[in-house]
Amino acid sequence: MIDLHCHILPNIDDGAKSIDEAIALVALASEQGVSRMVATPHIHLGIYDNNLQSINAAYRLLCDALALTNIDIQLRAAAEVRISPEIMLFIEQQQLPFVGRYQQKDVLLLELPSSHIPPGTDKLISWLLAKNVLPMIAHPERNRELQVHPDRIMPFVNAGCLLQLTAASLTGDMGPSPQQLSEYLLKKKLYSIVASDCHSLNRRPPKIALAYDAISQLVDEDYAYSMTTAMPDSISSSLFEQTR
Ligand SMILES: [Fe+2]
Repeated sequence: MIDLHCHILPNIDDGAKSIDEAIALVALASEQGVSRMVATPHIHLGIYDNNLQSINAAYRLLCDALALTNIDIQLRAAAEVRISPEIMLFIEQQQLPFVGRYQQKDVLLLELPSSHIPPGTDKLISWLLAKNVLPMIAHPERNRELQVHPDRIMPFVNAGCLLQLTAASLTGDMGPSPQQLSEYLLKKKLYSIVASDCHSLNRRPPKIALAYDAISQLVDEDYAYSMTTAMPDSISSSLFEQTR
């Protein structure tokens, strides 16, 4: 399995607080059958002001530490980017990392606020697509506007956006509303991938194996395989083909 959304880089967002915790999270993922991970720290202006340089520095630290263990996992780094008008500037400046490529477009892991869908989201998404950037919307099931109006996701799906399910939403750890919306979207097969979005050993540990079982039960095993392995592999293969 391949995890394309996780906060395992130490001390650059609200994820792993130390190298030891980062290694423990990677070990836990490996035990569940994860063989590749793309670390996606937050880029959230004014809150987590990460950039290519800060992400690469933390990534190198973790790679060096992992090399001293016997954990067999391949690691790359990208980011989870909070929606904002500045994204356009960062894209023009080539300052945002991508989680991979799909259908000849760079895939941007795009985070909406949890409260609502900001006005202008549709225009930003059209702008990104015109720039050959394909948004993959992170955990739409956690957005409260979508929890009340699930069909408001459809303009983004119809525009071509990918959707990423967070494993802990489906397993119920985030409460009933994200779980209900994730089940609704799963039954419609609107998600492309499931990821752990893991942050720490206590708060949201990696649970991809549990999500695989839940998707198998709710839909079928083919979709569980596609969401945990085949699709994340298609998306991220361009990253793993590059030497780190
Ligand atoms: Fe995240």
